[in-house]
Amino acid sequence: MQETIHRGLVGVVADTTEISFIDGDQGELSYRGYDISELTEASYEEVVYLLWNGELPNAAELSAFRDELAPLGALPFEIVDRLRCARPDTEPMHLMRTAVSNLACHDPNPDEVDAENVRRIGHRLLVQFPTIVSTIERLRHGLEPVDPDPELSIAGNFLYTLTGERPTEAATHVMDVALVLHAEHGSNASTFTARTAASSLTDVYSAVTAGVGSLKGPLHGGANEAVMRALEEIGSVENAEPYVMETLAKPHGRVMGFGHRVYRVLDPRAAILARVAQKLARESGESKYWEMSLEIARVMEREMAKRQRAVAPNVDFFSASVYRMLGFPIDMYTPIFAVARISGWMAHLYEQYADNRLVRPLLAYEGPKGKKFKPVSSR
Ligand code: ACO
Repeated sequence: MQETIHRGLVGVVADTTEISFIDGDQGELSYRGYDISELTEASYEEVVYLLWNGELPNAAELSAFRDELAPLGALPFEIVDRLRCARPDTEPMHLMRTAVSNLACHDPNPDEVDAENVRRIGHRLLVQFPTIVSTIERLRHGLEPVDPDPELSIAGNFLYTLTGERPTEAATHVMDVALVLHAEHGSNASTFTARTAASSLTDVYSAVTAGVGSLKGPLHGGANEAVMRALEEIGSVENAEPYVMETLAKPHGRVMGFGHRVYRVLDPRAAILARVAQKLARESGESKYWEMSLEIARVMEREMAKRQRAVAPNVDFFSASVYRMLGFPIDMYTPIFAVARISGWMAHLYEQYADNRLVRPLLAYEGPKGKKFKPVSSR
C-alpha cells in the first residue's frame, strides 16, 4: 500500500477543538470566538477563565476565580530546596521542567484524570508556574524566594515575586498583555506534545512536563531567547542587514523570530507586541533593540519576497525586545512563555481527557527486512 507521508504532520488535522482558531492566510487568531486584539484589554485571569470555561467571566465569577487561585501560588519547601541544590549555571528551562515534574511528588492525588481532579491541578499549576520562574531567578542570585501576595494578580505577582517590590500598574499591564498573547495557540508543538502524552491517560504532571520540554526548543518557545541573542550579536542597526544576508546565505539559514507553520502573513500577536515594544522604547529611551528589530524586519520582508517565501515575524520576534525592556534576563524568556502557555496546555488537557483517543500515528518503515539472527559468538 502506498502511504502518504506528512513529515512534521504538515496539514494533518488530528482532532477537533473549541478553544482557539487561527486563520493563517488572514493573520487572525481568536480564543473561544474573541479576536486576540480585543482580549489584550482583559486581564490574564479573565482570559484563562475564558479558555477554561468557554466564556468570559462576569464580575462575581472573576472574583470567585481569583479567590480560588490566591492561596495556591506558593511552592512546597521541598521544591524550593531542590531548586536551591542545582548548579547555579543550570539553564532555567531545565530547572522549570524538573520542578513541574517534582510537584507531582507533593500532590496527594496526582494521577486521577477525571475532570474535577484535572481542574484542581490546573488551578495550582497556573499560579505555581510564575512562582517557579521567579524562585529560580532569585535563588541563582543568592536571594530568598518571595511568597505571592494574595492581593495581586498573576501578572502582578510574577513581577512582585521576581523583584520583591510591588510592580507599577504600567508594568503589570504589559505583563498581562504578554501573558494573554502567549496563552494559547492551537496545536502548536508543546500543546500537541502535552495532548499526546495525556492521550495515554497518563497524569497531568507528566503531560505538562512533556509540554515544557517541547516548548524549550529553539524552533518553538526557545526562539525568543535566540532572537535576543541574535540582537545582541548584531549590536547596531547598521549590522542588521549584513547579519540577515549572511544568515540567509547559509544552507537552511534561519533568522530567528521569523516564519511559522500556520501563518502565511504577519502573526497577529507579533503586530500587537510590536506596538508594545515601540511604546516601551519611546518611554524608556532605550530604542536600540526596537530599531534593530525594524531593520531586520525590513530586510527580511525584501528578501523573502524575492525568494517568494511567506515568512513574516512571529510572536517571538517582538516579545524578545519587550522582555528586554522589562528588564528580564534572556534565559528567563522561555520560562516566561511557559508561565503564559500553562493556561493553553490545561485548556487542551481538559478537552483531551474529556473525550480521549490514544494518539498513535504511523511511520513508514524504510529499514532492512528478513535478516537472520546469529548468536553473538558467530557475529
Ligand atoms: N528564516 C529564513 N527563512 C525561513 C525561516 C526563517 N526563520 N523560516 C522559514 N524560512 C523559509 C526557508 O526558505 C524555508 O525553506 P528551507 O528549509 O529550504 O530553507 C521555507 O521558508 C519553509 O520553511 P519551513 O522550515 O519548511 O517551515 P516550517 O513550517 O517547517 O517551520 C518554523 C516553521 C520552524 C517556525 C521555521 O519558520 C523556523 O525555523 N523559524 C525560526 C524559529 C522560530 O522563530 N520559531 C518560533 C515559531 S513561533 C512559536 O513557536 C512560538
